[in-house]
Amino acid sequence: MEFEEMFVKDLRAAARHFAPKEACGVGGVAHAGTKEDLIALLRGRGVMACEADDFLKSGVPDSGSPASSGDDSGDVIEALVIDDGPNEGEDGGEDGGKCDVKGDELEIIRKIITKGITPKGVDEETVSSIVDKRLELFREKFRRDAVRVIEVKQPNELPNKVIGVCHNLTKQIAEVCNLGVHQMLVGPAGGGKTTCCEKVAEILNLKFYPMSVGPQTTKSDLLGFIDAAGNYHTTPLRDAFENGGLLLLDEVDAANAGVLTIINSLLANGYCSFPDGVRRRNDNFRCICACNTYGRGADRQYVGRNQLDAATLDRFAVVDFDYDENLERAIAGNDAWVEKVQAYRKRAFELKMRVVISPRASIFGAKLLAAGMKEKQVEELVVWKGVSAEIRSKITAA
Ligand SMILES: Nc1ncnc2c1ncn2[C@@H]1O[C@H](COP(=O)(O)OP(=O)(O)OP(=O)(O)O)[C@@H](O)[C@H]1O
Ligand SMILES: [Mg+2]
Repeated sequence: MEFEEMFVKDLRAAARHFAPKEACGVGGVAHAGTKEDLIALLRGRGVMACEADDFLKSGVPDSGSPASSGDDSGDVIEALVIDDGPNEGEDGGEDGGKCDVKGDELEIIRKIITKGITPKGVDEETVSSIVDKRLELFREKFRRDAVRVIEVKQPNELPNKVIGVCHNLTKQIAEVCNLGVHQMLVGPAGGGKTTCCEKVAEILNLKFYPMSVGPQTTKSDLLGFIDAAGNYHTTPLRDAFENGGLLLLDEVDAANAGVLTIINSLLANGYCSFPDGVRRRNDNFRCICACNTYGRGADRQYVGRNQLDAATLDRFAVVDFDYDENLERAIAGNDAWVEKVQAYRKRAFELKMRVVISPRASIFGAKLLAAGMKEKQVEELVVWKGVSAEIRSKITAA
């Protein structure tokens, strides 16, 4: 496995970086029928679709943004002759008009994307390398404190695969997982554990088998069962064990500790006894558990959690999976709101309050605000959620 992290500080700015000028006005590209192309281009380079989409709908480049600050203007390429198509060029004719486009290469890229025109003298590869060079410069600027975007170098000369924005622990978790060490991700609600596992599977080219476990999870849910007609009913665990893949046992600390001991031998040994017989473990079987506690039982916040068997816990490397605030900011796309949520969270933590203010408050809140809801109402819905007036006033007093 070979992969590297890329860094994009502000995905909105990245979107802006490639967005056509036409898209900045009302109506914009939505009517040009090429929005999807642009989104695909941005997404292929690690910018989230929702960011690009959002920008195309409403974005107006802000002159102070890093992408438009002008200090990357050194990358102007020579004037190019562009085949503007019969309706585009001033001298458009049957064989397609031509126009000289001078200036910033982004202008040319924009034209290619938004107008669907074919540039003369520039092939697709050149355009692609120009875009890549641009993005690389963009990333260079924001290498520190940035959102991680992971790019995987594929075997057999397949094109690199961009995984998109990731939690800052994703690379480490993927590396450990690749070495065959089972991991338990322990962290507060909404930190991105489940999503991170999905991305790890994508990075490692493993099929993803998520399984939510809880107090009702039984031995049959894990190992499968044989029905009255004698047919075996499989489970994600069995499929991952036998065929290879990444098994995610989600919310594992909510499961019954006794039932979970079933997985002890399965994780440690090369064989497991299923209702229809003994099966050999596939070399590509990997397992990650995600939970909110360290398996030592319920705490003041996560009251429905169980104590896990020491022998089960012993089989996992434990990863402290805290919030990644840069990721939170990038997903939500409303910096002022996210700052407010993060400040409330910090204050609640300092005061040791039993309040969960997770990145979901940032993400969902940003969505509601974008839809035009009043901030006061949004706070009520996604932050306070029934928190007593006394606790709330202590948190907001800061
Ligand atoms: N890398 C990411 N890219 C885009 N969205 C993300 C990413 N990571 C997390 N999210 C979003 O953040 C929210 C919380 O993520 P997730 O459900 O993975 O957290 P969790 O730690 O598993 O939470 P819980 O402990 O409550 O199960 C979700 O809405 C998810 O879509
Ligand atoms: Mg989860």
